[in-house]
Amino acid sequence: MDESTNSDIIANILVFDSGVGGLSIVGHIRKRLPSSDITYLADNRFFPYGLLSEQELTDRVSSLLTRVLSEYHIDIIVIACNTASTLVLPILRATLDIPVVGVVPAIKPAVKLSKNKIIGLLATPGTIRREYTDELIRDFAQECQVVRVGSNKLVEVVEQNMLGEQFDQNIYREILTPFTDHPRWAEMDTIVLACTHFPLAKSKLSLAAPEIKNWVDSGSAIAQRVTALLQKGASRRSHLKLDYPSNIVLLTDLSKNTGDCTQNFKRYGFDCVNLFEP
Ligand code: DGL
Repeated sequence: MDESTNSDIIANILVFDSGVGGLSIVGHIRKRLPSSDITYLADNRFFPYGLLSEQELTDRVSSLLTRVLSEYHIDIIVIACNTASTLVLPILRATLDIPVVGVVPAIKPAVKLSKNKIIGLLATPGTIRREYTDELIRDFAQECQVVRVGSNKLVEVVEQNMLGEQFDQNIYREILTPFTDHPRWAEMDTIVLACTHFPLAKSKLSLAAPEIKNWVDSGSAIAQRVTALLQKGASRRSHLKLDYPSNIVLLTDLSKNTGDCTQNFKRYGFDCVNLFEP
């Protein structure tokens, strides 16, 4: 995939997730669009999204994003969350007046990569049972067997790890047990990381399951899509001087933030962490 840099594009991109998962997308966007700013919104008050009902999630995401857009100059939104994207994208696109890019399970590229045509889909319990996920599998994975595993545990491990907690490497193999116990495990060569938290643990997962050849996520494709939309001129308002600091993190619950978390946000180019109370 073309990973070229575009430093002419100056925009303010909102990257949104329930927690730290969206940082796996931020890395790719920063590489491609080094002159653009990112406002990172984590709804950590309602974390984890994977355990919310569809109604709760739809209401929360719609109201939160409407509110943030009324207060910040944003050119484009990235819903850096499969759990939310697989549910609320149509509503957001119908109600918001700026482009909305969603992150959905990378089934299509995984099917191309898999030699044995047996792939694993690792996501939140919410994403696993979505109709949208059924459709993706029906449309793009007909010649494959897709083994679905929902793991809230891995979401929690990645989030806690970012807050400074250390985990034994064994926990990653345990999380993968529903795959390793599957009768066709020996043939499985590809796993889709269909939650944005999971690429942040990719090196630990591949250490836990060296049998898997391809760990597939959507990060690079999303950065490419954002670039293409901004190149097409997706309402670039934020070259006008912003009245708030650029490259900030907004958390809906500051009490869960720790020194470790702030340090980790810094590594992704964020200067400060603020409370956003809708
Ligand atoms: N990072 C999110 C996703 O891509 C959500 C994780 C959660 O809050 O359950 O699905």
